Amino acid sequence: MIIFYFSATGNSLSAAKRIGGDLVSIPQVIESEHLEYKDDVIGLIFPIYSLRPPKMVRRFADYVTRNIRYTNKNAKSNYRSYLLKALQNDYGLAMQEDEESARQVVAQEAIKMQAIAQSEAVEQKRRKV
Ligand SMILES: Cc1cc2nc3c(=O)[nH]c(=O)nc-3n(C[C@H](O)[C@H](O)[C@H](O)COP(=O)(O)O)c2cc1C
Repeated sequence: MIIFYFSATGNSLSAAKRIGGDLVSIPQVIESEHLEYKDDVIGLIFPIYSLRPPKMVRRFADYVTRNIRYTNKNAKSNYRSYLLKALQNDYGLAMQEDEESARQVVAQEAIKMQAIAQSEAVEQKRRKV
């Protein structure tokens, strides 16, 4: 088992040590060139700051997730080396930005449709008066 951990004052590290396995510090992974980790079980341990994970943990989880999603979407073969390349170059970031732009376009269209529906309702009401 590999446990990625973040710990500012040592409590999360102490919990990780009790669980056992290979412990890997998230700040060290972020700084390091080594991006290949292989195990059947992978854990994540971190404290809660203001009701959510610390920013560094959120950024790390986001970076890993988007590159796994990118690889799931695009890798036709050789998944492992594809994922490594995606992580090294953060290919998932551009995909995530495109998805966000597409979401914004859909949201803007929905707002426009709502405005049209509202003005039509007002017009219908005016005609009835
Ligand atoms: C700035 C800050 C915000 C915190 N916010 C929360 C919180 O929202 N909820 C909570 O249960 N604990 C909160 N805590 C307590 C920490 O999660 C707790 O002390 C934790 O054991 C620290 O882990 P660490 O020693 O691995 O850094 C907060 C601690 C700090 C320093």
